[in-house]
Amino acid sequence: MLSRPPAVYGRGVNDLAPDSRTHTPHKPVRVERRRVDEAESRKANGPDWDRYADEYQASHGEFLGDAGFVWGPEGFTEAEAGILGDVTGRDVLEVGSGAGQCSRWVRTQGGRAYGLDLSRRQLQHSRRIDEASGIVVPSVLGTATDLPFADDSFDVVFSSFGALQFVSDIDVAVADTARVLRPGGRFAFSITHPTRWMFPDDPSEAGLVASQSYWDRTPYVEVDDTTGEVSYVEHHRTLGDWVSLLAGTGFVLTDLLEPEWPEHHDRIWGGWSGVRGRFTPGTAIFGANLR
Ligand SMILES: C[S@@+](CC[C@H](N)C(=O)[O-])C[C@H]1O[C@@H](n2cnc3c(N)ncnc32)[C@H](O)[C@@H]1O
Repeated sequence: MLSRPPAVYGRGVNDLAPDSRTHTPHKPVRVERRRVDEAESRKANGPDWDRYADEYQASHGEFLGDAGFVWGPEGFTEAEAGILGDVTGRDVLEVGSGAGQCSRWVRTQGGRAYGLDLSRRQLQHSRRIDEASGIVVPSVLGTATDLPFADDSFDVVFSSFGALQFVSDIDVAVADTARVLRPGGRFAFSITHPTRWMFPDDPSEAGLVASQSYWDRTPYVEVDDTTGEVSYVEHHRTLGDWVSLLAGTGFVLTDLLEPEWPEHHDRIWGGWSGVRGRFTPGTAIFGANLR
């Protein structure tokens, strides 16, 4: 469902020096909708992002910018959104930080940004860009459902298409976010707009015809045809699910941004395109304050 062609795929921070690991060849997969728990989601998605990281950075790195902060394929930036608030002098955690582009931007704005990601290979790319740009984002290998930080460590936690749609135990991830935030802290994240789950993941006009129930929360699953193992998972929650979850975890929802597709933006990214983007939102960005 995310920004990746289907059937295309692929810890300790001291072991993250850039290297030249060979890229795992693309694997044949079949797509299903079925229940997958947290352990299986993590077991699939970590290695998947390891396999896919080189291709992801090669395809999207220029658009993201080494020290750029976009909230999604529409190219809507944090400089335009201002949803994090003033980050100057703030302790900031990016969950699902990938190669750290967003956190690097936060650092250019005077924030002390740190990254966390499930994929070792993504973090190796982060280290590579740290070295090339001179803007270093200290990062750690980990998962959104078990943040390796003390209570009350951060003023801001954010995720730009990071971990949240990849975890099964989303209530655990949001509760752990609340735990590491200081009282009054800010939480902002972007995800595939929940209404997108009604449509096939197709950037053409065919992708504008609803074919699945918005209320069907059954995860999107790719299964490796050769091993029969789950190789990639995404989880769907409705807008109402998100509002209930945030409110029930002690957050006050302040923003729900649905960036419009810019008029002259002709980039195609997975199922995102101008053809669909002119009619229906592709990205939802939530902003909330911890009480
Ligand atoms: C679409 S990328 C987004 C990364 C970055 N924000 C960007 O815009 O390029 C999603 C990232 O989430 C990470 N991820 C997936 N599941 C995760 C989890 N459970 N905990 C932390 N990160 C996770 C992936 O490894 C990947 O780097």
